[in-house]
Amino acid sequence: MGDTRDTNGAPGARKKLFIKTYGCQMNVYDSGRMADVLAPLGYAPTDTPDGADMVILNTCHIREKAAEKVFSDLGRIRPLKQAKGDMLVAVAGCVAQAEGAEIMARAPFVDIVLGPQTYHRLPEMVARAARGGKAVLDTEFPTEPKFDHLPAPRADGPTAFLSVQEGCDKFCTFCVVPYTRGAEYSRPTADIVREARGLIASGAREITLLGQNVNAYHGEGASGATWNLARLIRALAEIDGLDRIRYTTSHPRDMDDALIKAHGDVPQLMPFLHLPVQSGSDKILEAMNRGHTRDDFRRIVHKLREARPDMALSSDFIAGYPGETERDFDDTMELINEIGFVQSFSFKYSPRPGTPAALMRPQVPEDVKAARLGLMQQVLDIQLRNFNTACVGRTFDVLLIGTGRYPGQLVGRSPYLQAVHIMADSQHIGAIVPLKIVSVESYSLGAVWAETTAPAISA
Ligand code: 5AD
Ligand code: SF4
Repeated sequence: MGDTRDTNGAPGARKKLFIKTYGCQMNVYDSGRMADVLAPLGYAPTDTPDGADMVILNTCHIREKAAEKVFSDLGRIRPLKQAKGDMLVAVAGCVAQAEGAEIMARAPFVDIVLGPQTYHRLPEMVARAARGGKAVLDTEFPTEPKFDHLPAPRADGPTAFLSVQEGCDKFCTFCVVPYTRGAEYSRPTADIVREARGLIASGAREITLLGQNVNAYHGEGASGATWNLARLIRALAEIDGLDRIRYTTSHPRDMDDALIKAHGDVPQLMPFLHLPVQSGSDKILEAMNRGHTRDDFRRIVHKLREARPDMALSSDFIAGYPGETERDFDDTMELINEIGFVQSFSFKYSPRPGTPAALMRPQVPEDVKAARLGLMQQVLDIQLRNFNTACVGRTFDVLLIGTGRYPGQLVGRSPYLQAVHIMADSQHIGAIVPLKIVSVESYSLGAVWAETTAPAISA
C-alpha cells in the first residue's frame, strides 16, 4: 500500500470512498475528478456504501424523477451511517446546487453539500466536516476555475472523458442546467491538449470531449485567439496515439460549417453524433427557446451526411411539452421518421421549479404525455433495431475496452458507440481491431474476427 494520509495529514489506513453517479456523462467525469482530489487524503474507491468511510451522491436535477431518487437513496444511506458512526455523507452535483438548503433540512445527517463548481474544494470541506460540528454547504460559483485546482486525471481504460466546456447560456425554457451549472465557460486549449496527452499516456485511445454545450466551445488558443470546437478537434487529432475523438452534447444552433467540415476531414472523428432536437414542431421549438426551426435541423443533418455519408445520429426528445397538441406531436414523429436515428433518449416533459415552462399553460396531462412517449419510443426502438440488424455482415474497427459478462468474452465499442461482444483473450483489451458483426442481441452486437485479419491486433 502506498503512502496514504488521513485528513489531518498523518499517515493512515486506506479509507473507502463510495460515489454514486446520477445523470449525464459530465457527472461521470466529475465523479472521477472528485475521486482524484480525495485520493491524496487516503480515499480509495469501493463499490458499496456499506461500511464506506465516505459516501458521495453526485446528483442530477434534470427531471423530477432523478431529483427524487436522491432523497430515497439518502433514506437508505442513513442507517448505514448510523451503523458505521464516522461515515461522511456528501451530496454533490445539480440537486445539491439547486436544493442545498432543502437537502440539509430533509436529511440533517448529510455532512457536506457541494455544487458542481466547487468540488476542487472537497479536501477542505472534508477536513472541516471530519472535525465535527456543522454541516458544510458550498454551492457558490467561485471565480477561480476549478480545473486549475485539480490533479491531472489518468485514464482507467482505453476510453476517457475530457471536460472542455461547462455551463449553458441558452436557457431552453424547460431546462435547469443554466441555473445549476451556470454560465458557459470554455477551458483554454493548452490545458485541454495537456490533459489529452496525459490520458493517452495512461492508456486512452478514444477521448470524448464533454460539455453541456460542447459545440459552443470558444476557448483561448495558444496565440490568444479564440478557438472553436472544430479547431480544437483538429489540434487534438495531431496527437499521436489519439485514435478516436467524440464530443457531446451538442446544440443544433452551434453546429457550424467548420465543425461539419471537420467531420469530413478528420478521420479520428467518429461518424456518430448525438444532436438533441427535442421536438419536430416549429411552434414548440420556438416556445422552448431552442433558436432553430425544424428545417434548420434538417439542413444540418443533410450537410453532415454530405460531409460524412456514414454519419449516424442520435437525439433527445421531449413528449408533452406545455401546449403540445396532437398536431405538434405528429410533426415530431414525422421528423423522427424522416431523419432516422440510430439511438435516442426520450422523456416525458417534467416541470422543473424555477424554469419558465413549468408556469406555462396548458400543461399536458400525465396520461397524454405517457401515451405520446410510448408511441415515440416504439418508433425509436424500431429504428435502433433496424440499424443494428443492418450492421450484421459488416466489418467495423472496434476498440476493445474490457471483459464481457461471460468468461472469455470481451466487449468493445464500434464507431457508432454500439457495444460489440467477441470471444477473445484479455490481452487484446486496448486494441482496435476489424471485427465482423454476426449477430444482434438486445442492445449489443456479437462479432467474430474479420477473416482477413484474424488474429491481428493493432496495439
Ligand atoms: N423534462 C423532460 N426532459 C428534459 N430534458 C431536460 N429538461 C427536461 C425536462 N424538464 C431532457 C432534454 C435534454 C436531456 C438531457 O434531458 O431532452 O436534451
Ligand atoms: Fe438545457 Fe437547452 Fe442548455 Fe441544453 S442547451 S443544457 S437543453 S438550456
